Amino acid sequence: MSSKHHKNNELPTGIWRRFLNGKPEYLVRHYWWAYLWHWGVWFFDHQPIINAILFGQYRTLSLRALRDCMKNRPQGRFLQLTCAYGSLTPALLKAMDDELYLMDVADIQLTASRKKLTDETRERLLCARMNAELLAYGDNVFATVLIFFLLHELPSDAREHSVSEAIRVLQPGGRLVITEYGACPKKHLLWRLWPTRLLLQRLEPFLESFWRLDLIAMLQQHAKKQDKVIKQIDEFHCFSDFYRVCVFELDESLSG
Ligand SMILES: C[S@@+](CC[C@H](N)C(=O)[O-])C[C@H]1O[C@@H](n2cnc3c(N)ncnc32)[C@H](O)[C@@H]1O
Repeated sequence: MSSKHHKNNELPTGIWRRFLNGKPEYLVRHYWWAYLWHWGVWFFDHQPIINAILFGQYRTLSLRALRDCMKNRPQGRFLQLTCAYGSLTPALLKAMDDELYLMDVADIQLTASRKKLTDETRERLLCARMNAELLAYGDNVFATVLIFFLLHELPSDAREHSVSEAIRVLQPGGRLVITEYGACPKKHLLWRLWPTRLLLQRLEPFLESFWRLDLIAMLQQHAKKQDKVIKQIDEFHCFSDFYRVCVFELDESLSG
């Protein structure tokens, strides 16, 4: 077999393949070391590490996301769409007295999230292993959906599917909170310095396409396909617009 043939057919080589086991290929290939390898999960799930990855902005962003979710929270179920390192999940549970639904495609992440909780809050965390691109929840069952730094880690098609699913499970009148990178930060120092730009592009292979995305247009397009109407009601920026927390709401009535 020629080496060209090897490349074209992607023979099962590479450490990352041992983590596949039903998980999306992009996640395993690009992020196995961060989300699926037990030493990686142990390492990254420390407050100083996750704060360093977000250039010191973790507290600001997680507190803002928490506030945006909890302030006049629409009545009904709350979904955190995928796990996140740090204290976000425990803080959400502390701020509410009902149940928090948490899904992730990686069981190691769900286990790590559960380990951070007290006995009382653990009982109120409803974990399920599933793919964000194809949620097993019904239509219109959540009043709040929180997506914390997931979308920039997804290739375009997975991002489209996940956004469409988030809108599908969100009930009319429901709230969607998205914490993410801002728009392409061409004036930001981290972008202008080529070593940090290269490092970011290397570690986050789908960030470039996220930077080019018109997030609200994408959400509106998916909402429209489902006869829903989505509106942005708030946007918070920090670190010279490098990061943002956006709040969206679905209209009470369907448009169709
Ligand atoms: C929320 S994102 C990034 C979080 C951020 N870096 C942090 O920890 O603060 C990472 C999580 O998304 C999960 N994930 C990625 N793609 C997924 C998919 N298609 N379905 C479900 N979970 C997914 C990973 O397993 C991981 O737990």
